[in-house]
Amino acid sequence: MPNVLPVTLHNVPRMPLTCSPVRLLLLLLLLLTALEIMVGAHSLCFNFTIKSWSRPGQPWCEAQVFMNKNLFLQYNSDSNMFKPLGLLGKKVNATSTWGELTQMLGEVGRDLRMLLLDIKPQIKTSGPSTLQVEMLCQREAERCTGASWQFAINGEKCLLLDAMNMTWTVINHEASKIKETWKNNRRLEKYFRKLSMGDCNHWLREFSGDWEAMPEPTDIPTGVEGLASFNIRWQKGEWQAGLWPLRMS
Ligand SMILES: *[C@@H]1O[C@H](CO)[C@@H](O)[C@H](O)[C@H]1NC(C)=O
Ligand SMILES: *[C@@H]1O[C@H](CO)[C@@H](O)[C@H](O)[C@H]1NC(C)=O
Ligand SMILES: *[C@@H]1O[C@H](CO)[C@@H](O)[C@H](O)[C@H]1NC(C)=O
Repeated sequence: MPNVLPVTLHNVPRMPLTCSPVRLLLLLLLLLTALEIMVGAHSLCFNFTIKSWSRPGQPWCEAQVFMNKNLFLQYNSDSNMFKPLGLLGKKVNATSTWGELTQMLGEVGRDLRMLLLDIKPQIKTSGPSTLQVEMLCQREAERCTGASWQFAINGEKCLLLDAMNMTWTVINHEASKIKETWKNNRRLEKYFRKLSMGDCNHWLREFSGDWEAMPEPTDIPTGVEGLASFNIRWQKGEWQAGLWPLRMS
């Protein structure tokens, strides 16, 4: 981790009472970022796009895997190719975890397609349907702090499952019947819970070590993600806050 010193409250520079809201906001942002760096919050996200039907030569399943929002693995059912991307992709590709991860992607893709074909009669459009599924898990300070599933049908977000407490949220009321069907399926609920709180969390713990050992981020974030480069550091005898370049020596 580049030159990030632990920040505790007594290290924060004293702000004059008249400081502007913008500066206050900035300080808050800096503190949050510093805090996140200290406790090492990480996330692993699996993104599946499943089609009920596809032309020959077109995939019915595409999957992407993101570590801390950085894409490192891509899967396409048509070519049956698993493509490692970036430093982490390369690193994982060389371990035994690669086999587990790719096997799981293929299996979950097939399971989700069965699920889509099951609910197809309840989807009020004729023609092929698309199911997009995002499975996310988060860890902070060596604990699983989040595990969730998000489902979109034909591009429309419709259901959320918080796997930490198995709470369903209906976003689009047209999907309430689907929610009832899934909620009453004990095996399916167990499946969602095991994958997100079990497997995802297990791999995230494994990759977190690799991530922290990496010399520098694989990509320079742009836009909003650029906020991640806010840091507080000790310089010229005082605490300085600002936008430091990501690639510091
Ligand atoms: C997952 O894929 C969908 C569409 O393919 C996209 O809209 C969404 O932003 C992706 N999620 C992430 C975390 O990239
Ligand atoms: C991944 O591993 C395979 C065999 O272990 C190797 O042939 C391939 O070049 C690797 N891919 C990358 C991007 O490192
Ligand atoms: C379930 O947990 C989430 C946080 O993970 C929380 O926001 C939500 O209120 C909880 N729901 C219930 C019903 O406990």
